[in-house]
Amino acid sequence: MSTDPISRLRRIDAQIHFLSQVNALLGWDQETYMPKAGLADRGEQLALIDGLAHERLCSAEIKDILSELGVDEAHPQGSGGLHGQQGAYLRAFYRAWARANKLPQEFVEERAKAASASQAAWAEARQRNDFKAFLPHLSAMVGLARREADYLGYAQRPYDGLLDTYEPGCTEAGLRKTFDRLRAGLVELLSKISSRPQPDDLALQASFPASLQADFSSSLLMALPIHGDQLRLDQSEHPFTTTIGFRDVRITTRYVERKLCSSIFSTIHEAGHAMYELGLPEDWKWSMAGDAASIAIHESQSRLWENIIGRSLPFWKGFYESLQHIVSPRLSHLSVEDFYRAINRVEPSLIRVDADEVSYSLHVILRFELEAALISGALEPAGLPEAWDQGMRRYLSLTPPNDAQGCLQDIHWSMGAFGYFPSYALGNLYSAQFRQGMLDALGSISNDLESFDYSRIASWLRENIHSKGSLLTPGELIQEVTGSPLTPEYFLNYLNIKYGQIYGF
Ligand code: CO
Repeated sequence: MSTDPISRLRRIDAQIHFLSQVNALLGWDQETYMPKAGLADRGEQLALIDGLAHERLCSAEIKDILSELGVDEAHPQGSGGLHGQQGAYLRAFYRAWARANKLPQEFVEERAKAASASQAAWAEARQRNDFKAFLPHLSAMVGLARREADYLGYAQRPYDGLLDTYEPGCTEAGLRKTFDRLRAGLVELLSKISSRPQPDDLALQASFPASLQADFSSSLLMALPIHGDQLRLDQSEHPFTTTIGFRDVRITTRYVERKLCSSIFSTIHEAGHAMYELGLPEDWKWSMAGDAASIAIHESQSRLWENIIGRSLPFWKGFYESLQHIVSPRLSHLSVEDFYRAINRVEPSLIRVDADEVSYSLHVILRFELEAALISGALEPAGLPEAWDQGMRRYLSLTPPNDAQGCLQDIHWSMGAFGYFPSYALGNLYSAQFRQGMLDALGSISNDLESFDYSRIASWLRENIHSKGSLLTPGELIQEVTGSPLTPEYFLNYLNIKYGQIYGF
């Protein structure tokens, strides 16, 4: 073949990305507009496209190109000493390629079948609050995850292999150190908060018709730094972001009549994900180097907008009048300062997805400890409900009244996604550390927020984080942007200062 190997690789890589964009469109349609009866065919369509993408990634052609470039486990950037972005591209490609090729086709199919049965069993078990009905499926998924770890390989413990799937370079030992410190800091902060009077958030539980919430979500999106012709906002049961093309990102939100905050912060959260997707490097579009660095880095961008910016006083000094106007007269008696305190009310609760900024990470740490124990065998699946309730009491001083509001609340384990949960807490840590990097570079951003001028913030994020795609690993990225490896101290400092002011300690 006449063209150089990198160009040939980029062409196949682009095809793999187009297939995954097709799947993203099918998935988006399924969650937003598809009639229910379309489900069976849609499952077949998604599986076919997935299979084609996997076949493409595991083709002999790619194997030849990689060996031509001298790319292997010891030389992920190629033996020719490719430096700079091309070397980084090969490293990112090799990572995806090696992981796909390590799992035998029969195993992938067996796991997909088990996961689909397990998810259905979980949904029913949760509805009926029947952990025993889910238990055989949970045991099967734990067994499959252990086999998966063996195929993937790991540094010290099987769980390391699973963690690395979601957060490159992440290990159980490293995570344990980070989370031990984070947990101690959060538990201490929570106990300080619980000794202080709570802000009144009754006004936020009034009735806010969906149409008004939708108007406000639209006005938020118009003001945030995203091109309107590159984004769609729709509704779905669980808010999400998905990418259909390099300049076509879809987000969803949900409108709950008595939960005004749910739509506001879901919209801002998903907008943060969308900005990341739309800021990925154009030179590397449709390639493994043009993908997000990791799920935790993705989550850092949504959390930065949702919590650090979206739950700050300067942001609402800019936006509050427009919200008051749209939902008038519902919030007319509430000052912006009282609104700010109300949206930042901290109160441990049973459900992770409803948790506030302070207690949220404790939910995640509990899941990390339990899933690490499930994978190592220290915890038998049958012992999960009891271990869950103990953890909830220890970290959040709450006892779930049933398993539906306890260990059956999340879908992840039913899908076999062990190792995913830590990304949520890591996203919080990254977001606070990136915030410090941004403040060091830009100085205060309060005036920007109060005057709806997000241009400096958007350019800083794009230049330092979004445009790096997967050219840097998460570890390299945080080091480059902030001058130090990931630590929980930035997040704990940020929370202590913010909530010290709100709660007065
Ligand atoms: Co998210």
